[in-house]
Amino acid sequence: MREDNKNRGKDIHFARSLATKWLGQRIIFFREVASTQDEARRLFPCTPSGLVIWADRQKAGRGRLSRKWFSPRGSGLYFSLILKEPLFRPLPLYGLITAIGVAEALEKEVGVSFQLKWPNDVLLNGRKVGGILLEAQKGGIIVGVGINVGLQRKEMPPEIKEKASSIFQETGLAISRARLLRTILNHLEEAYELLLEMGFEAFLPRWQKRDVAFLARVILRRGDEVVKGLALGPASDGTLLLKTDSGLVHVHSGEILLWEIPGWENQAA
Ligand code: BTN
Repeated sequence: MREDNKNRGKDIHFARSLATKWLGQRIIFFREVASTQDEARRLFPCTPSGLVIWADRQKAGRGRLSRKWFSPRGSGLYFSLILKEPLFRPLPLYGLITAIGVAEALEKEVGVSFQLKWPNDVLLNGRKVGGILLEAQKGGIIVGVGINVGLQRKEMPPEIKEKASSIFQETGLAISRARLLRTILNHLEEAYELLLEMGFEAFLPRWQKRDVAFLARVILRRGDEVVKGLALGPASDGTLLLKTDSGLVHVHSGEILLWEIPGWENQAA
Protein backbone atom coordinates (compact mmCIF):
# COMPACT_ATOMS: atom_id res chain seq x y z
CA MET A 1 0.00 0.00 0.00
CA ARG A 2 1.29 3.46 -0.81
CA GLU A 3 0.01 6.68 0.65
CA ASP A 4 0.17 9.83 -1.39
CA ASN A 5 2.63 12.73 -0.83
CA LYS A 6 3.36 13.39 2.85
CA ASN A 7 1.50 10.30 4.07
CA ARG A 8 3.66 7.90 2.14
CA GLY A 9 4.27 4.66 3.95
CA LYS A 10 3.87 0.92 3.83
CA ASP A 11 1.37 -1.26 5.60
CA ILE A 12 3.20 -4.54 5.77
CA HIS A 13 0.47 -6.29 7.76
CA PHE A 14 -2.05 -5.36 5.13
CA ALA A 15 0.04 -6.71 2.27
CA ARG A 16 0.93 -9.90 4.13
CA SER A 17 -2.61 -10.96 4.82
CA LEU A 18 -3.93 -10.09 1.40
CA ALA A 19 -4.44 -13.44 -0.28
CA THR A 20 -4.88 -12.08 -3.80
CA LYS A 21 -2.68 -12.63 -6.84
CA TRP A 22 -3.43 -9.38 -8.66
CA LEU A 23 -6.27 -7.43 -7.07
CA GLY A 24 -5.00 -4.84 -4.62
CA GLN A 25 -1.38 -5.87 -4.96
CA ARG A 26 -0.92 -2.15 -5.46
CA ILE A 27 -3.04 0.20 -3.37
CA ILE A 28 -2.77 3.97 -3.43
CA PHE A 29 -4.18 5.63 -0.33
CA PHE A 30 -5.30 9.24 -0.11
CA ARG A 31 -6.30 11.03 3.06
CA GLU A 32 -8.58 13.18 0.98
CA VAL A 33 -9.61 13.22 -2.63
CA ALA A 34 -12.50 14.56 -4.72
CA SER A 35 -13.51 11.07 -5.82
CA THR A 36 -11.51 7.85 -5.97
CA GLN A 37 -13.24 7.28 -9.32
CA ASP A 38 -11.51 10.35 -10.75
CA GLU A 39 -8.09 9.23 -9.48
CA ALA A 40 -8.66 5.78 -10.94
CA ARG A 41 -9.68 7.31 -14.26
CA ARG A 42 -6.56 9.43 -14.31
CA LEU A 43 -4.32 6.43 -13.64
CA PHE A 44 -6.26 4.00 -15.84
CA PRO A 45 -4.16 4.29 -19.04
CA CYS A 46 -0.85 3.61 -17.31
CA THR A 47 -1.72 0.88 -14.86
CA PRO A 48 -2.42 -2.86 -15.00
CA SER A 49 -5.61 -4.56 -13.82
CA GLY A 50 -6.03 -4.69 -10.06
CA LEU A 51 -4.89 -1.25 -8.91
CA VAL A 52 -6.94 0.01 -5.95
CA ILE A 53 -7.42 3.68 -5.06
CA TRP A 54 -8.55 4.10 -1.46
CA ALA A 55 -9.46 7.33 0.34
CA ASP A 56 -10.27 8.25 3.91
CA ARG A 57 -12.49 11.08 2.72
CA GLN A 58 -14.07 12.14 -0.55
CA LYS A 59 -15.09 15.73 -1.12
CA ALA A 60 -17.16 14.86 -4.17
CA GLY A 61 -17.99 11.17 -3.83
CA ARG A 62 -20.59 10.15 -6.37
CA GLY A 63 -23.17 7.42 -6.60
CA ARG A 64 -25.44 5.92 -9.26
CA LEU A 65 -28.06 7.98 -11.02
CA SER A 66 -26.01 11.19 -10.63
CA ARG A 67 -26.33 11.17 -6.86
CA LYS A 68 -23.73 12.20 -4.30
CA TRP A 69 -22.08 9.65 -2.06
CA PHE A 70 -21.67 11.09 1.43
CA SER A 71 -18.03 10.34 2.27
CA PRO A 72 -16.89 11.91 5.56
CA ARG A 73 -13.49 11.20 7.07
CA GLY A 74 -12.99 8.24 9.36
CA SER A 75 -16.34 6.51 9.04
CA GLY A 76 -16.59 4.92 5.62
CA LEU A 77 -14.70 2.70 3.24
CA TYR A 78 -14.34 4.36 -0.16
CA PHE A 79 -12.32 2.77 -2.91
CA SER A 80 -12.16 2.24 -6.66
CA LEU A 81 -10.52 -0.60 -8.49
CA ILE A 82 -9.35 -0.97 -12.04
CA LEU A 83 -10.33 -4.00 -14.10
CA LYS A 84 -8.96 -4.45 -17.59
CA GLU A 85 -9.64 -6.89 -20.42
CA PRO A 86 -10.28 -9.76 -20.67
CA LEU A 87 -13.65 -9.06 -19.07
CA PHE A 88 -16.91 -10.97 -19.13
CA ARG A 89 -19.87 -9.43 -20.97
CA PRO A 90 -22.19 -7.66 -20.44
CA LEU A 91 -20.12 -5.36 -18.24
CA PRO A 92 -22.95 -4.37 -15.84
CA LEU A 93 -22.63 -7.90 -14.43
CA TYR A 94 -19.53 -6.63 -12.63
CA GLY A 95 -21.79 -4.46 -10.49
CA LEU A 96 -23.84 -7.43 -9.34
CA ILE A 97 -20.79 -9.61 -8.81
CA THR A 98 -19.09 -6.90 -6.79
CA ALA A 99 -22.20 -6.52 -4.63
CA ILE A 100 -22.19 -10.27 -3.95
CA GLY A 101 -18.48 -10.26 -3.08
CA VAL A 102 -18.87 -7.24 -0.81
CA ALA A 103 -21.89 -8.76 0.98
CA GLU A 104 -20.06 -12.05 1.54
CA ALA A 105 -16.96 -10.28 2.84
CA LEU A 106 -19.11 -8.18 5.18
CA GLU A 107 -20.85 -11.29 6.46
CA LYS A 108 -17.48 -12.83 7.24
CA GLU A 109 -16.20 -9.76 9.07
CA VAL A 110 -19.38 -8.62 10.81
CA GLY A 111 -21.00 -12.00 11.45
CA VAL A 112 -24.53 -11.09 10.34
CA SER A 113 -26.45 -11.53 7.06
CA PHE A 114 -26.50 -8.74 4.50
CA GLN A 115 -29.03 -8.32 1.71
CA LEU A 116 -28.76 -7.23 -1.92
CA LYS A 117 -31.07 -5.03 -3.95
CA TRP A 118 -30.79 -5.00 -7.73
CA PRO A 119 -28.65 -3.78 -9.28
CA ASN A 120 -25.84 -3.00 -6.81
CA ASP A 121 -27.09 -2.09 -3.35
CA VAL A 122 -25.87 -3.78 -0.19
CA LEU A 123 -28.32 -3.62 2.70
CA LEU A 124 -28.30 -4.47 6.36
CA ASN A 125 -31.64 -4.94 8.10
CA GLY A 126 -33.21 -3.65 4.87
CA ARG A 127 -31.32 -0.33 4.91
CA LYS A 128 -28.61 0.63 2.47
CA VAL A 129 -25.08 0.48 3.87
CA GLY A 130 -23.14 0.04 0.65
CA GLY A 131 -23.24 0.79 -3.05
CA ILE A 132 -21.28 0.13 -6.20
CA LEU A 133 -20.63 2.41 -9.13
CA LEU A 134 -19.37 1.14 -12.48
CA GLU A 135 -17.71 3.44 -14.98
CA ALA A 136 -16.60 2.17 -18.38
CA GLN A 137 -13.21 3.06 -19.83
CA LYS A 138 -11.58 2.15 -23.09
CA GLY A 139 -10.20 -1.33 -22.38
CA GLY A 140 -11.83 -1.90 -19.02
CA ILE A 141 -13.93 -0.62 -16.16
CA ILE A 142 -13.56 1.23 -12.89
CA VAL A 143 -15.51 -0.27 -10.02
CA GLY A 144 -16.23 2.09 -7.12
CA VAL A 145 -17.29 0.73 -3.75
CA GLY A 146 -18.66 2.80 -0.87
CA ILE A 147 -19.57 1.32 2.51
CA ASN A 148 -20.92 3.15 5.53
CA VAL A 149 -18.91 1.52 8.27
CA GLY A 150 -18.94 3.69 11.38
CA LEU A 151 -21.21 6.47 10.18
CA GLN A 152 -23.54 7.76 12.91
CA ARG A 153 -27.11 8.79 12.24
CA LYS A 154 -26.55 12.29 13.57
CA GLU A 155 -23.82 12.85 10.93
CA MET A 156 -26.04 11.92 8.00
CA PRO A 157 -27.46 14.58 5.72
CA PRO A 158 -31.29 14.64 5.78
CA GLU A 159 -31.66 13.27 2.24
CA ILE A 160 -30.12 9.91 3.17
CA LYS A 161 -31.27 9.60 6.78
CA GLU A 162 -34.41 7.66 6.00
CA LYS A 163 -32.97 5.06 3.66
CA ALA A 164 -29.33 4.69 4.59
CA SER A 165 -27.60 3.24 7.59
CA SER A 166 -24.18 1.99 8.61
CA ILE A 167 -22.73 -1.18 10.02
CA PHE A 168 -22.14 0.55 13.35
CA GLN A 169 -25.66 1.91 13.47
CA GLU A 170 -27.21 -1.48 12.81
CA THR A 171 -24.94 -3.67 14.94
CA GLY A 172 -23.10 -1.42 17.43
CA LEU A 173 -19.84 -2.98 16.19
CA ALA A 174 -16.73 -0.97 15.36
CA ILE A 175 -15.25 -2.68 12.31
CA SER A 176 -11.71 -2.04 11.04
CA ARG A 177 -11.88 -0.57 7.56
CA ALA A 178 -8.44 -1.87 6.56
CA ARG A 179 -9.40 -5.38 7.58
CA LEU A 180 -12.69 -5.06 5.74
CA LEU A 181 -10.96 -3.85 2.58
CA ARG A 182 -8.58 -6.80 2.68
CA THR A 183 -11.40 -9.32 3.07
CA ILE A 184 -13.39 -7.63 0.31
CA LEU A 185 -10.43 -7.76 -2.09
CA ASN A 186 -9.88 -11.43 -1.32
CA HIS A 187 -13.54 -12.15 -2.12
CA LEU A 188 -13.65 -9.96 -5.20
CA GLU A 189 -10.63 -11.45 -6.93
CA GLU A 190 -12.16 -14.88 -6.55
CA ALA A 191 -15.52 -13.64 -7.81
CA TYR A 192 -14.09 -11.85 -10.88
CA GLU A 193 -12.09 -14.93 -11.86
CA LEU A 194 -15.13 -17.18 -11.46
CA LEU A 195 -17.26 -14.84 -13.54
CA LEU A 196 -14.79 -14.99 -16.40
CA GLU A 197 -14.60 -18.76 -16.17
CA MET A 198 -18.23 -19.73 -15.49
CA GLY A 199 -20.49 -16.77 -16.26
CA PHE A 200 -23.16 -15.24 -14.05
CA GLU A 201 -25.27 -18.41 -13.63
CA ALA A 202 -22.68 -19.69 -11.17
CA PHE A 203 -23.56 -16.75 -8.92
CA LEU A 204 -27.35 -16.93 -9.08
CA PRO A 205 -27.86 -18.88 -5.83
CA ARG A 206 -25.50 -16.47 -4.04
CA TRP A 207 -27.51 -13.52 -5.35
CA GLN A 208 -30.97 -14.99 -4.81
CA LYS A 209 -30.48 -15.97 -1.18
CA ARG A 210 -29.74 -12.31 -0.36
CA ASP A 211 -32.08 -10.59 -2.83
CA VAL A 212 -34.61 -8.51 -0.84
CA ALA A 213 -36.96 -8.27 -3.79
CA PHE A 214 -36.79 -11.81 -5.13
CA LEU A 215 -40.30 -12.94 -6.06
CA ALA A 216 -41.71 -9.76 -4.54
CA ARG A 217 -44.12 -7.27 -6.08
CA VAL A 218 -42.05 -4.20 -6.82
CA ILE A 219 -42.42 -0.64 -7.95
CA LEU A 220 -39.43 0.42 -9.99
CA ARG A 221 -38.34 3.76 -11.38
CA ARG A 222 -36.83 3.57 -14.88
CA GLY A 223 -35.88 7.05 -16.08
CA ASP A 224 -39.09 9.07 -15.91
CA GLU A 225 -41.43 6.11 -15.82
CA VAL A 226 -42.59 3.87 -13.02
CA VAL A 227 -42.94 0.15 -13.73
CA LYS A 228 -44.75 -2.37 -11.55
CA GLY A 229 -44.38 -6.11 -11.56
CA LEU A 230 -43.22 -9.29 -9.92
CA ALA A 231 -39.42 -9.31 -9.61
CA LEU A 232 -37.94 -12.61 -10.80
CA GLY A 233 -34.37 -11.61 -9.97
CA PRO A 234 -31.49 -10.88 -12.35
CA ALA A 235 -31.32 -12.66 -15.71
CA SER A 236 -28.01 -14.11 -16.91
CA ASP A 237 -27.16 -10.77 -18.54
CA GLY A 238 -27.69 -8.87 -15.27
CA THR A 239 -30.96 -7.19 -16.30
CA LEU A 240 -33.82 -7.44 -13.81
CA LEU A 241 -36.55 -9.78 -14.99
CA LEU A 242 -39.93 -8.31 -14.23
CA LYS A 243 -43.28 -9.99 -14.83
CA THR A 244 -45.64 -7.13 -15.65
CA ASP A 245 -49.28 -7.08 -16.77
CA SER A 246 -48.06 -6.77 -20.35
CA GLY A 247 -45.56 -9.61 -20.15
CA LEU A 248 -41.94 -10.27 -19.20
CA VAL A 249 -39.69 -7.22 -19.24
CA HIS A 250 -35.89 -7.00 -18.95
CA VAL A 251 -35.03 -3.87 -16.99
CA HIS A 252 -31.55 -2.60 -17.91
CA SER A 253 -31.30 0.26 -15.48
CA GLY A 254 -33.43 1.72 -12.74
CA GLU A 255 -34.15 1.65 -9.07
CA ILE A 256 -36.48 -0.52 -7.04
CA LEU A 257 -38.47 1.89 -4.89
CA LEU A 258 -40.80 -0.39 -3.03
CA TRP A 259 -41.08 -4.12 -2.64
CA GLU A 260 -43.72 -6.27 -1.06
CA ILE A 261 -43.09 -9.81 -0.04
CA PRO A 262 -46.37 -11.71 0.38
CA GLY A 263 -47.32 -11.72 4.06
CA TRP A 264 -44.84 -8.96 4.90
CA GLU A 265 -45.34 -5.26 5.27
CA ASN A 266 -44.31 -3.07 2.34
CA GLN A 267 -40.64 -2.17 2.35
CA ALA A 268 -39.56 1.19 1.04
CA ALA A 269 -36.18 1.54 -0.60
C1 BTN B 1 -24.41 3.97 -5.29
O1 BTN B 1 -25.01 4.96 -5.72
O2 BTN B 1 -24.97 3.14 -4.59
C2 BTN B 1 -22.95 3.79 -5.63
C3 BTN B 1 -22.05 4.46 -4.61
C4 BTN B 1 -20.58 4.30 -4.94
C5 BTN B 1 -19.71 5.13 -4.00
C6 BTN B 1 -18.26 4.84 -4.20
S1 BTN B 1 -17.24 5.51 -2.90
C7 BTN B 1 -15.81 5.11 -3.81
C8 BTN B 1 -16.10 5.46 -5.24
N1 BTN B 1 -15.83 6.87 -5.47
C9 BTN B 1 -16.94 7.54 -5.74
O3 BTN B 1 -16.99 8.76 -5.98
N2 BTN B 1 -17.99 6.72 -5.76
C10 BTN B 1 -17.62 5.37 -5.47
